[in-house]
Amino acid sequence: MAAAALFAACGQQESPQQPVDPAQVVMNNILSRKSVRSYTADTIPAQVMENLLRAAMAAPSGRNIQPWSFVVLTDKSRYDTIFEGNFNLNMFKQAAAVVVVCADTTVVRPPRENPDAPAVQQPNGIWRDDMGAVTENLLLAVEAHGLGACWTACYPYPDRMEPVKQALGLPATVVPYSVVPIGCPAGDEQPKDKWDPSRIHHNMW
Ligand SMILES: Cc1cc2nc3c(=O)[nH]c(=O)nc-3n(C[C@H](O)[C@H](O)[C@H](O)COP(=O)(O)O)c2cc1C
Repeated sequence: MAAAALFAACGQQESPQQPVDPAQVVMNNILSRKSVRSYTADTIPAQVMENLLRAAMAAPSGRNIQPWSFVVLTDKSRYDTIFEGNFNLNMFKQAAAVVVVCADTTVVRPPRENPDAPAVQQPNGIWRDDMGAVTENLLLAVEAHGLGACWTACYPYPDRMEPVKQALGLPATVVPYSVVPIGCPAGDEQPKDKWDPSRIHHNMW
């Protein structure tokens, strides 16, 4: 698939080639992102899904441990079981794909500052912070491709995590952190303006 087509997964027109300001491109991407909760029946090309996961895996990681894994779901016949009791179930069923963002809390790597030393785990449960960055990277890539998605929490709710763990056969050390339905937007969701200068403090609170 041509690169241009990858960045217009839902059939939008490509804009004519113009000089690109990298800062503006990134700002537009971040400020355009919004939660999308209804989707058309269009599917997501495999190459686009790879792009999305490539962006997710580019997230920063405490001590560069990279504890993430992903379960990409498209077989909706099992969603009643996987997402039993989850109020987002109908949204998941509409989406072309649902990505379960997982953390393996036992992944080890040599310390970033000393690659020859024995491998270590991520300290202090900071895998949670990695997972937030991963999920946001995924959402931004979704937006960049003209797709829509919604971050839904799985961790730390036992009633959401248990059915996912059981139905997907996750190892005991793997935590399903977030569940992200992705598809072509069916509606016209707009980004919210959250800019609030009063939240900014200079030098002291
Ligand atoms: C940790 C977290 C959990 C969320 N869980 C859900 C959820 O279970 N269901 C849902 O519809 N949206 C969920 N959202 C999406 C938020 O409702 C949404 O981000 C918020 O309303 C702001 O809207 P925006 O994403 O369009 O900026 C979640 C977002 C975050 C960051």
